[in-house]
Amino acid sequence: MTQPVLRTYRERFVQALADRFKVVALDIDRLVKNADPVHGDFTFPTFALAKTLRKAPLQVAADAAASLRVSGISITSVGPYINAKLDPLPFTREVIDAIRFAGSAYGSSKMGVGKTIVIDYSSPNIAKPIAFHHIRSTMIGHSLANLYRSQGYRVEGINYLGDWGKQFGLVAVGLEQFGDASRRTQMAHLVEVYVKANALAETDLAFDERARAFFKKMEQQDHEALALWEELRTISLREFQVIYQRLGIQFQHYEGESRYQNSMEQVIVEVQNSIGTKESEGAVIVDLPYADNESPILLKKSDGSTLYATRDLAAAVDRYDRFHFFKSLYVVATDQTLHFKQVFSVLEKMGKAWSSDCLHINFGRVHGMSTRKGQLVLLNDVLDEAKNRAKEKIEENQKLQRLHTEDVEKLAEQVGLGAIIFGDLKNRRSSDYTFNWDEVLSFEGRSGPYLQYAHARACNLLRRGGRQNGLPGDSGYDASLLQLPEEQHLIRRIAALPDALEAALGDHEPSYLADLLIDVATAFSQWYTMGNQDREKRILREEAADLTLARLHLVDAVRLTLAGGLALLGMPAPDSM
Ligand code: ARG
Repeated sequence: MTQPVLRTYRERFVQALADRFKVVALDIDRLVKNADPVHGDFTFPTFALAKTLRKAPLQVAADAAASLRVSGISITSVGPYINAKLDPLPFTREVIDAIRFAGSAYGSSKMGVGKTIVIDYSSPNIAKPIAFHHIRSTMIGHSLANLYRSQGYRVEGINYLGDWGKQFGLVAVGLEQFGDASRRTQMAHLVEVYVKANALAETDLAFDERARAFFKKMEQQDHEALALWEELRTISLREFQVIYQRLGIQFQHYEGESRYQNSMEQVIVEVQNSIGTKESEGAVIVDLPYADNESPILLKKSDGSTLYATRDLAAAVDRYDRFHFFKSLYVVATDQTLHFKQVFSVLEKMGKAWSSDCLHINFGRVHGMSTRKGQLVLLNDVLDEAKNRAKEKIEENQKLQRLHTEDVEKLAEQVGLGAIIFGDLKNRRSSDYTFNWDEVLSFEGRSGPYLQYAHARACNLLRRGGRQNGLPGDSGYDASLLQLPEEQHLIRRIAALPDALEAALGDHEPSYLADLLIDVATAFSQWYTMGNQDREKRILREEAADLTLARLHLVDAVRLTLAGGLALLGMPAPDSM
């Protein structure tokens, strides 16, 4: 795998400056930024350098522009800045060839070979439904897993089910109270029972006590209690898997909190021996100097049952022992920030050097979601509704002759999924967002359907140009024919993909990739719509075979960039719409 084209040029520019001014390349590199497109591709401000040289910044920039020669790059100066603009050739050819060579793996690398990333994501609670907001952890986690894999890391995706805890007690005693034996194996029934039981427990203390007692029985390995728990777990899991399948997600491990039911004592002893524990109001807490208003870290409640945090301590240790991870990610809502801060700090104080490799990848809330069905918003219902709404739009567009699809059902499912997934991932993960049906399903603007449409459009152009199977790797074409400003702009956007992937991983922010794909689709659409006004600028021109072939190579590079990018975000990429 060779290094991304844009990076090669950047390095060349940096090195030329370093040589010229006899300074360390790293010091130049720090200052080089992407330029405003009117000035070029990269820019270097000369202020700091001018100071050491005891010259005026303007002078330094002008001198460099007048005398620096860098292959494939034109150097100019604007005021105190030295600008680098890539010449159309060989840059254009290098970018297109790199993509042709890599196919839809364009942007991937071997950077992470030999390193393992553990990602805890989705992780819903058993006996509760997968609600719409679960889309966040599920899709952010899934796309991070894809991104890491694309850079050569080994990824262990863990669905850490909430399958242990008092909520089972609630469902269990709820079933006794208002269960319907004939619907016992239905998830919907369990959810109803859970909702009722949860409400009743708020007011009826005796009922709440029975639920607690049931969970305690589970912790004491009571057979009957465990049999019921197992049954509920299986029903829930079956239901969850339908959704994961629909979203195209596979976990390497389904291992929930229950996995640690027998490791509790061991962890508590380990905390005792390293940090120390003490009793507080009958409960066992980590012995730390707590501030006055700080709530202590509990390991065991006063009734002897264990907690979410205790299980997370055991799970973290177990994950390190098994995977020797490079990073261990927890894709969980911002609400749990304090929880993870405490868990990680206990691990650190226990002497686990790897605790600093545990990261809480937090995310904000979704507001404003409601479906035509009403109140409790289940993820699967949202996906159904997205499909139905997509179908209405597709049929509308078919009437207007704007879409020509054969399998409307399938396309509607793909567009619906794309709309919901992109509608989520386009947002910076830590910010809250307000869901809007029209926005996510729009065929224009920053939306999934817009991206999918651009991809299908590229496929369609290739089909019409007789190149439905892409362009063979050895086919010759003349890259010098791609010099329209719109073409050069588009090439720069697709060339930026590897940097976007790197940045997305650096900040664990799939939205950076989402932004880049929108840029690519927008630049692509600006280019091909020009042909509506000006025949000369059409992509397919029978009278100009060489030009058409060169343009189709660019179309194919766009297609591969979008296909690869959509796959990394976990979105379907229909090849016709
Ligand atoms: N089941 C939890 C919830 O729904 C999320 C679990 C996240 N992972 C973890 N290791 N704590 O809130």
